[in-house]
Amino acid sequence: MVQRPKVLRTLPALRRSLARCRAAGETVALVPTMGALHEGHLSLVRLARRKSARVVVSIFVNPAQFAPAEDLATYPRTFAADLAALAREKADLVWAPESVAVMYPEGFSTRVAPGGPATVGLEDAYRPHFFGGVATVVAKLFIQALPDVAVFGEKDYQQLKVVTRMARDLDIPVRVIGAPTVREADGLAMSSRNVYLSPAERALAPTLHRVLVDCAARIAGGRPVKATLARGRDTIARAGFRLDYLEARHADTLEPVRSTRDGPVRLLVAAWLGKTRLIDNVGVG
Ligand code: PAF
Repeated sequence: MVQRPKVLRTLPALRRSLARCRAAGETVALVPTMGALHEGHLSLVRLARRKSARVVVSIFVNPAQFAPAEDLATYPRTFAADLAALAREKADLVWAPESVAVMYPEGFSTRVAPGGPATVGLEDAYRPHFFGGVATVVAKLFIQALPDVAVFGEKDYQQLKVVTRMARDLDIPVRVIGAPTVREADGLAMSSRNVYLSPAERALAPTLHRVLVDCAARIAGGRPVKATLARGRDTIARAGFRLDYLEARHADTLEPVRSTRDGPVRLLVAAWLGKTRLIDNVGVG
């Protein structure tokens, strides 16, 4: 029989369980999630397993990273299925605060405000509340669990860079690791929000990845970044998406780049299909 992970609903319970792991000399990896787990999340759990004796998966739909008009109320919540999947992956602990007040008690007044080049533009230009909310909750998760390692998906590439910088800047002794994006057979990056897509939108959605791959190949082949991105933007718009951005950034710092001579390049995109916002990214070369 598959052993279910232990579910911890309060901070003292989490701390007691982790103290027992540490007393036994075990290392701990944390995989922060908002639930609605798919194969992408499970790949993070597998990577965490390889890095640590114990794996904690947090499941918390974090209100602080949603703007009022966003999908907090309708964000998919699939706790029973998540637990079953985590049991199959042999996660040890699930940190699922029993209420929002466990994370943000009455009077909560502190917010982590990430800055620097990694926060300039891209997601921040369209969701200015987002990285403050993510950095605040991730800082709390790091302090609550004090993991040796934390695993985040490269699908949210800017988030990965912001969280890595935040941990370094705040001297939180955790090694942040990025894991490659897991894709459907047709290239669409797995995301909990893909369930929002209608069948027609789902059929169109992989175009985004195809355009990214095409642009990356052209740039790697020596075509100019600016013209290649202009062509990519046009293809995305003509396919029926409402484009937020398609940009080339330095893969480490996320500063804008004009050519591959500026360093390793990452292409990042965000676009809407109907009411669903999709993001994706690929490396060049
Ligand atoms: O990527 C996510 O699912 C969330 O932004 C995270 C990192 C769990 C913080 O709420």
